[in-house]
Amino acid sequence: MCGIISALSFDDGVSESLLSALERLEYRGYDSAGIAYIDGNSRLHRIRTVGRIKTLREAVERQSVKANVGIGHTRWATHGKVTELNAHPHSADGVAIVHNGIIENYQELRKRLVAAGYSFESETDSEVIAKLIAFNMKSGASFESAFKQAISKFVGTFAIAAIYEAEPDVLIGAKRGSPMAVGLSKDGRSCFIASDAVALSSLADEIAYLEEEDIVVARKGDTLRYEICNASGETVVREVVPNKVSLDDVTKNGYETFMLKEIFEEPRVARNTYDKFDYDVDLSKFPGVSIIACGTSYYAGLLAKYWLEDIAGIHVDVEIASEFRYRNPVLFKNSLYVFISQSGETIDTLCAMRLVKAAGIKTLALVNVDASSIAREADYVIKTVAGVEVGVASTKAFVAQTLSMLLLAKRKADFDIDVVESAMNSVLNKSHEFAKTAEKLKSGRSLFYVGRGTSYPISLEGALKIKELSYVSAEGYPSGEIKHGPIAIVDDCVHTVAIAPFDKHFEKTVSNTQEILARNGKVILLTTDAARGSLHGFDANENVDCIFLPDCDALYQPFPLMTAIHLLAYHTAKAKGYDVDKPRNLAKSVTVE
Ligand code: F6R
Repeated sequence: MCGIISALSFDDGVSESLLSALERLEYRGYDSAGIAYIDGNSRLHRIRTVGRIKTLREAVERQSVKANVGIGHTRWATHGKVTELNAHPHSADGVAIVHNGIIENYQELRKRLVAAGYSFESETDSEVIAKLIAFNMKSGASFESAFKQAISKFVGTFAIAAIYEAEPDVLIGAKRGSPMAVGLSKDGRSCFIASDAVALSSLADEIAYLEEEDIVVARKGDTLRYEICNASGETVVREVVPNKVSLDDVTKNGYETFMLKEIFEEPRVARNTYDKFDYDVDLSKFPGVSIIACGTSYYAGLLAKYWLEDIAGIHVDVEIASEFRYRNPVLFKNSLYVFISQSGETIDTLCAMRLVKAAGIKTLALVNVDASSIAREADYVIKTVAGVEVGVASTKAFVAQTLSMLLLAKRKADFDIDVVESAMNSVLNKSHEFAKTAEKLKSGRSLFYVGRGTSYPISLEGALKIKELSYVSAEGYPSGEIKHGPIAIVDDCVHTVAIAPFDKHFEKTVSNTQEILARNGKVILLTTDAARGSLHGFDANENVDCIFLPDCDALYQPFPLMTAIHLLAYHTAKAKGYDVDKPRNLAKSVTVE
């Protein structure tokens, strides 16, 4: 949530580096954005706009900015509405800052700063950062020590970058709880501090990730250097690693949207996951497995429960991280605790993992971002190989997470990845059919997604995806549950997507949808070719639409179904004219509780 970038350079074109990085960072939040820079006369300027980076770019380009140092921010509002005054950077007496995270004690600090004569223009927690640094400098502290003093007073989480107009050759950053990376350009003429490797792609080929409580100070003299010090104030060297994010990863490659590109990558992601999977966790050593995650990653855990219990015969609990961490859970010392997170930064999942570690229990994380906090703190890591996922709604990462979990349960040698890949490709070839169905779905007031067995977690994922992209109320249910209450809302404005491959649950799910049809509800039956002979006229009902997917072994069937529900959500949002890559109110990487 919230993306930050900052640059210090021998060249005066930093505004373009800031804007291009903000465009790549937009997936972290996109309600407003801004930059601050220092001009050749050591004067600080800010440009802030409400809306997307495109609007900010236009505003910056109107002013033909020339600057060697600057900071930029793209916001996902927490404290304070989406307004220009609440947009970052915030400033005070020539200091400007950008912030990701939450300063929990900002009210108390704000009161003290108001008493010291400062007035505040925003409703944000972040503005106290700029004011406190400025206040500290009033008593003679240098920019660097004023920054360090301020940081020591904050309760909460932050990644902060700061500049000061009287010291235009200095750029400072600090991290606690929110990710931050630093890198030099290839020619050594520019230094960048940013939220993640994606922001730094095409700016820095090699980067270092800051550790908790690190402060980084970049200085421009004869050369450009940065120095990192740790919580005890000692200078430390953090490992410099290649920035693996290529420009290709963060461009649409001819697709209309990132989401469509990422759905079309799903079969390849399945293949890569299989090819690269080489973890040998002996599940028989554990009396049980607990899986903890949020959102789509939680649904990946639910699906894994079916496989781990069925194939490996091991008891599995699946928990939502934000509940698990606050309910004083009873922990089983000998169980395997698995944390699933695409971003590796979801704060609830990270804190749940810390809670388990603190009890002396080993943790296993499934993460898609190499250097993320969860990947770095877990005892064991399974790297999912979905590649960079830019679309805010998770799609291909779900494929990588679920397939990795299945490969934990079932030996690779007994698995036929060709079947999975080819079934997923066949679904992609039917993309137009989903587009046609979406035209009908778009008028629905609300939606149910129902399924039994492994199709139940797929239903939950389908409902979440369509809800977040199409802004329509949608609920996933086991198909047997509908009659226990939810059926009360069924009428001719309610659509039900029944996920019913021709498996042992088929007849039962179809029978449950009859109950919906009897109440004038509309049904979209997502089934497989083998069901054609067993529909007994069901598909002749004017309120029924059927989409037939390829049949495959029940073990592999969830994979083509994933692609199908992702396509359905995609086309429905497109049919409604919404921005599928940046749905309203959301952001990828949820680093606040
Ligand atoms: C839904 C979606 C979210 C994430 C959730 C957890 O499309 O993307 O529900 O799955 O915020 O995120 P990670 O996996 O990064 O921990």
